[in-house]
Amino acid sequence: MEIIIQPDHVQASEIAARIVARTVREKPHAVLGLATGNTPLQLYRNLVRMHREDGLDFAGVTSFNLDEYVGIPPAHPSSFHSYMWAQLFSGLNIPKDHINIPDGMTADVPAACRKYEQAIRSAGGIDIQVLGIGTNGHIGFNEPSSSLSSRTRIKTLTEQTRADAAAAFGGEEAVPNHVITMGLGTIMDSRMCLLLAFGKKKARAIAQAVEGPVTAMVPGSILQMHPRTILVVDREAAAELRMADYYLWVNTHKPDWQKY
Ligand code: PGA
Repeated sequence: MEIIIQPDHVQASEIAARIVARTVREKPHAVLGLATGNTPLQLYRNLVRMHREDGLDFAGVTSFNLDEYVGIPPAHPSSFHSYMWAQLFSGLNIPKDHINIPDGMTADVPAACRKYEQAIRSAGGIDIQVLGIGTNGHIGFNEPSSSLSSRTRIKTLTEQTRADAAAAFGGEEAVPNHVITMGLGTIMDSRMCLLLAFGKKKARAIAQAVEGPVTAMVPGSILQMHPRTILVVDREAAAELRMADYYLWVNTHKPDWQKY
């Protein structure tokens, strides 16, 4: 895993945007895997700026979001559909029919999940998957105990995750119990993973995912098995990494051609 520690989330999100932009420039028909939550907000603002000011072109890009709440219509203000349009899609030129988000209102969840997996395959697979991490180590909504080879499916949220999402729904009781999420196997099929984490409340999850054992109890730890994962964290999220000094040293001693 490549570990990039930055002073704050603004500088970290600048690097994350350069990594995504490079993928889009190198491959105009790139397939992006996208995440929601607070973590990628600055990354998305940067991508919108690069589109507007530098002409970064998303016309050929296809996107797949990680997850969506079951029973929440797309137009609901707390749906991930709403989030994605507000934070990213309205500011880019990805064609509407290239945008894929799991359908939380489907009458047949297993069929919709199979169709989602098929759509990812038909698009050629995900080139770069943006990920946040939950305070409990989840990626996507793959909660602790998720199969390390799981595919897109329904999951039941833990109390911790529902508490973390309470603000978006105006209270924990309004947070849905169920979600559709790409599985850990789906995420592992991506050609590159870009994991972002900011703030001290993520320090434990990051330390466990990066330096702890690979275990279904910390779903993000499966990324240790991924051939190309880049982790970009701020200092606070890096606080519990035992080898932080080494990661910082590696980054300052990179040859120029390896820098972002
Ligand atoms: P956050 O959520 O970006 O809002 O912290 C991350 C996650 O739960 O995966």
